[in-house]
Amino acid sequence: MNVLEFPERKQAHDRLVMVTCYDYTMASILADSDVDLLLVGDSAAMVMHGHDTTLPIGVEEMAHHVRAVKRGAPDKFIVADLPFLACRKGLQPAMEAVETLMKAGATAVKVEGIRGQEDLVRHIVDSGVPVMGHLGLTPQSVNQFGGFRVQGRSEDDRQRLKKEALACQRAGCFALVLECVPETLAADITRSLDIVTIGIGAGNETDGQVLVLQDLLGLTANMRPKFVRQYLDGRGLILDALDHFARDVRTADFPAPEERYAG
Ligand code: KIV
Repeated sequence: MNVLEFPERKQAHDRLVMVTCYDYTMASILADSDVDLLLVGDSAAMVMHGHDTTLPIGVEEMAHHVRAVKRGAPDKFIVADLPFLACRKGLQPAMEAVETLMKAGATAVKVEGIRGQEDLVRHIVDSGVPVMGHLGLTPQSVNQFGGFRVQGRSEDDRQRLKKEALACQRAGCFALVLECVPETLAADITRSLDIVTIGIGAGNETDGQVLVLQDLLGLTANMRPKFVRQYLDGRGLILDALDHFARDVRTADFPAPEERYAG
């Protein structure tokens, strides 16, 4: 898909499907799937590198993931996260980060929050780079939020988030991720915008949904937020396969004659 199709999908009430992707193998599977767009999220810091937050990942590491995803799914719309503080060090470093991610193969970049960066978002958009916004539980602000908590529960917060959503649209974002907010707020915001909203933990009234791939495939250990639907017991299936392999090696069942080279 391309960026012009997003408003058409909203008008047609044709919901968008996004999942995260960080590597070539998964990207090559996703390339053959009905998923619309791939997000090389900075959640890579947690999912792929085992950190507790998204903060430790940098622009070069993100670009490394984007390059792998692009090789696996060359025709998919790929959104790359601008990582922690990449947008907050001034215009030139921010544009260098955007350049790195786009040259790595991204189709668009995602920017968390809008306060204090409306001009920057506008500049990125005016430079020819589609920008996806991200409001609500923006994980890069986890320390400001005092943990991974649902946002937009108080009336003040609701009003602020509604204004910020409009600010994202005004700044030129083509889409907006709403993370961990009450369903009624996500619905209000979705109705108030011309651009598409993509929810995660934001109820069923956004224009699309996103999940972390490893969560929906059941690969993530010990973490199952309420909003995740697990479509596969990936961990269980992989462990069964590995234990089977270990058994076959120990009983000398593997390799079988047809799995050996003669001569
Ligand atoms: O980094 C990420 O995976 C994200 C999604 C949770 C929206 O930003």
